Amino acid sequence: MKNIETIAIQAGRNPDSATGAVMPPIHLSSTYIRGNDGDFVYSRSDNPNRRALEECLAMLEGGAGAITFASGMAAVAGVFQALSKGDHVILADDTYFGVRELVTIQLVRWGLEYSMVDMTDLDAVKAAIKPNTRLLWAETPSNPMLKITDISAIADIAHESGAILGVDGTWATPMLQPALELGADVVVHSTTKYLGGHSDLTGGVIITREEDSFYELMRFNQAIGGGVPSGFDCWLLLRGIRTLPFRMRGHCANAMQLARFLADHPAVHTVYYPGLESHPGHDIAKRQMKDFGGMLSVRVNGGGEMADKVAGATKIFARATSLGGVESLIEHRAPVEGETTQTPMDLLRVSVGLEHIDDLLADFAQALN
Ligand SMILES: Cc1ncc(COP(=O)(O)O)c(C=O)c1O
Repeated sequence: MKNIETIAIQAGRNPDSATGAVMPPIHLSSTYIRGNDGDFVYSRSDNPNRRALEECLAMLEGGAGAITFASGMAAVAGVFQALSKGDHVILADDTYFGVRELVTIQLVRWGLEYSMVDMTDLDAVKAAIKPNTRLLWAETPSNPMLKITDISAIADIAHESGAILGVDGTWATPMLQPALELGADVVVHSTTKYLGGHSDLTGGVIITREEDSFYELMRFNQAIGGGVPSGFDCWLLLRGIRTLPFRMRGHCANAMQLARFLADHPAVHTVYYPGLESHPGHDIAKRQMKDFGGMLSVRVNGGGEMADKVAGATKIFARATSLGGVESLIEHRAPVEGETTQTPMDLLRVSVGLEHIDDLLADFAQALN
């Protein structure tokens, strides 16, 4: 299987031998009779739905192995917890605020060292390397500023200094951005978002280029840390993945049209969408992504008060956090991120759904007026 549309539908699809069911049953049992064909013992260590899901996710990303978790943050934590006391990590300065807080509030207490840099500035990344740097952590496109990091260039810097590169590819998905092929060693997705696609589960995955000792540590963390997804969530997620490639086409097409509309609107002063030629990361995005994704951020005239009003005035865009579902969402982002936020107060984060684009444009137009 070479094409992602086929992989998304076929990978991990093992018809049920007992019943012939074309679609897999949901395995809710926590424990298994010893000596079964699949070698299943206990659902924290493995589960038939999880095994099928991980097979599919590894193939989608072109990786050697996939390790799933109960949320995107649990997957990110799974990577960082495979590091050791005294290791140094370089984080993108606009990394998802949950990751920033995980490192700066929790993992520093365990002796992890970190530097935060603008990953679009390659010289700054090189300057931040230390003898104990083990991991460079990029997020592209980033949440919520949609900064684009050059994955190949950062991978070269990481590898030259004996470190590895981890990429949070949640906003791009494996459909749009082959992060491992571009040079990353580890890719993480919050599967809560586009991979699930219907805002009805939380999940996360780590996918690695190789099944090496670092992979083994993260696999150990999954079973012993125990932040695993349920059989039902794995089943839902695999079902969502079946339509990922076609959903992403719709998200990208709608987001592009909405971005152009907003860029010309007098009530808007900046649109962040890598598909716009004016975006500083447009050329890199064009090179490393198949399309530009379904997320955009927009800054409105009139500051935080106006952003709040617009988010409250849309009728189709639901005012809620999260992203990547079939339904459109809007969020006044800075207040959600709390005191440590670096996000401008006038910024709205928009997850462009699969409703008809004319209805989405009309909804934004009435809210901005
Ligand atoms: C880029 C990115 N990474 C990680 C996460 C965390 O994922 P979860 O909410 O599934 O824990 C999010 C959530 O919004 C995200 O946008």
